[in-house]
Amino acid sequence: MIVPGASSQALAAALADELDEPLAAVEYDRFPDGETLAAVPDFDADRAVVVATTDSNDAWVELLQLQDAVREAGATEVVTVIPYMGYARQDQAFEPGHPVSARAMARAASTGADRVVLVNPHEDGVADFFDAHVTICDAAGVLAEPLPDDLVEPLFLSPDSGAVELAEATRDAYGIGEIDYFQKVRHSGTDVEITPSDADPAGRDVVIVDDIVATGSTMSEAVTHLDAGGAARVFATCVHPLLARNARTKLERAGIARIVGTDTVERDVSAVSVAPIVAAAVDAVESA
Ligand code: R5P
Repeated sequence: MIVPGASSQALAAALADELDEPLAAVEYDRFPDGETLAAVPDFDADRAVVVATTDSNDAWVELLQLQDAVREAGATEVVTVIPYMGYARQDQAFEPGHPVSARAMARAASTGADRVVLVNPHEDGVADFFDAHVTICDAAGVLAEPLPDDLVEPLFLSPDSGAVELAEATRDAYGIGEIDYFQKVRHSGTDVEITPSDADPAGRDVVIVDDIVATGSTMSEAVTHLDAGGAARVFATCVHPLLARNARTKLERAGIARIVGTDTVERDVSAVSVAPIVAAAVDAVESA
């Protein structure tokens, strides 16, 4: 039975279709003191597949509650799918006294899961923080799907060297195009400095590929440079379209032609589903 977290209802429904499993009715509630309650009154299966993007503290708590609720209701196996794992970027203690937040979250989730499925976590190494078995799936293959067929001399570009493989995989899925990457220095959560690459964007359609668009600082800086370099159209594509705070406005003001992402984070730009990829990973987990 597929059990959706509040932030992953569309993806959970798509996954239920892919796996041909029923979708549990989940009740999400909040007490007057602010505590959340996620319950599964009709859960009735041996295996629970909890699907919960953890893009907020409440979502993390709901995930833990759902894992516990399905066990209470009789599940003997819990597979937890975390399509977008919040806190994954806090994967080290950046200053003395800081926590390794990704590890803390991973350990908490592991207490209720037999197996975990992640989609493009910021670094694959985050899997080591889980005590449960982890399968990582890669959405790069579907990122090209929403792009127009008529890209002119396409240039696929990652805003830093860390996402160049994602850009390459997206180009491969699209079929044609050059690859390049920018150099990025992050000065703060919202202040990034980008150094343009060698590839000349003049007159070309450029696709910027990244794993996450969070504050939109990275993408909007990249778009500004490409615009100044005379790029024809600039598309932004990412796995996780978090689009926090004023990210959307930043991108629009920078002159983006279109932004697209997957349904790991459910936004109006989530143009492509990772459900088939996640379904394959859940099945692979099953036979692991
Ligand atoms: C960083 O290494 C990531 O790949 C993204 O570039 C980054 O997380 C995007 O964050 P923001 O949208 O806040 O610039």
